[in-house]
Amino acid sequence: MNVGIIGSGTMGSGIAQVAATSGCKVKLYDTNNTALYKAQTTLDKILNRLIEKGRIDETEKNRIQGNIEYVDSLKSLSDTNLTIEAIVENLEIKKKVFLELEGYVSDDCIIASNTSSLSIASIAASLKKPERCIGIHFFNPAPLMQLVEVIPAIQTSKATLDKSVQIIKDWKKTVAVAKDTPGFIVNRVARPFYGEALRIYEEGIADFATIDRSLKELGGFRMGPFELMDFIGNDINYTVTETVFSAFYFDPRYKPAFTQKRFAEAGYLGRKSGRGYYDYDDNGKIVTSSAVERSHNEELSQKIFNRVLVMLINEAADALFLNIASAEDIDNAMTKGVNYPKGLLAWADEKGIDWCVTKMDELYNEYHEDRYRCSPLLRKMNKENKTFF
Ligand code: NAI
Repeated sequence: MNVGIIGSGTMGSGIAQVAATSGCKVKLYDTNNTALYKAQTTLDKILNRLIEKGRIDETEKNRIQGNIEYVDSLKSLSDTNLTIEAIVENLEIKKKVFLELEGYVSDDCIIASNTSSLSIASIAASLKKPERCIGIHFFNPAPLMQLVEVIPAIQTSKATLDKSVQIIKDWKKTVAVAKDTPGFIVNRVARPFYGEALRIYEEGIADFATIDRSLKELGGFRMGPFELMDFIGNDINYTVTETVFSAFYFDPRYKPAFTQKRFAEAGYLGRKSGRGYYDYDDNGKIVTSSAVERSHNEELSQKIFNRVLVMLINEAADALFLNIASAEDIDNAMTKGVNYPKGLLAWADEKGIDWCVTKMDELYNEYHEDRYRCSPLLRKMNKENKTFF
């Protein structure tokens, strides 16, 4: 199969590696020759590291590299069966590129976008044959993250969806099919992990380190919310939150936090700037906490963990309620896209649906904010004594 990738940055080069590893002939295109060169040298380094670790041998490295051709004209992608775009997150630029591409490729070529925040319907609308357009959303780093969200637009044909799902499965990835709504699955359902942690901090309930420790020790999350925001970058994480918030017509559940906005404005971006919620050394290791950790308090930790967890569960339940994806896909998305220790719906079953409803109602009764409204699905399931799985 011939695969075209447009944009050889972080995502495009990772996706090219995935496709080439599974045997596809890949053409990787970028307008910027430096970016193309960088993609080529970075892949060489990555493959050498895999050889050192004994995961692949020299022959395999040559095979993978031999499957990728670096090209500097869009026209070169004319013989591809699938082209995935991973350029700047700008609708007008994407539309222009898609329209030009459609003039080169055959009628049955699938044209996909790796966009994180634009609607697939708006991208598809730029094409003469919008039914061939679909969202294929990888996670960073693409070769390591197991999940790929596949997002059909309202214009997408069933054939395009089925074929795309099969291709991504052939690339040995886990597919979660999501509705074309803001944040798809992961970037929607994960919002409370950051948002509720920030809110708990802003209320003065606990400092960054205490909140992180509660989620890690009691929840088994690999990183606490503040460590993770520092890792992603406060500028990027804030922008995603703000985009999701406005795309949901300012639903208070997704409201961004001033704390993070100020950190981003101050340039306290996290690991990449050496300072965020924590301070980092040159190797990206935390050296000190910006906040002094209070003495360990079991009851407080439990309260923090319960509050963040139930907000996450509520978000996952509401995504199911609104048919954004199936229960299996929602749980897979969170365990395989952001490495959550458990699927949130399975976690809800484990905690008990009555526990979830009670905890949400406690929060609502305390704050009287729409942010804390319990999903109608949880309430209905509780009445009917049902579980998710
Ligand atoms: P990046 O900035 O690393 O790479 C973008 C590349 O596109 C650059 O090399 C640039 O030269 C090239 N480019 C720009 N305009 C072009 C054009 N008209 N034609 C051809 N090439 C062009 O960006 P990144 O992070 O790889 O993101 C790309 C897309 O993937 C965006 O839509 C983003 O929302 C999405 N995405 C990003 C993730 C991330 O964690 N970075 C995760 C999932 C999706």
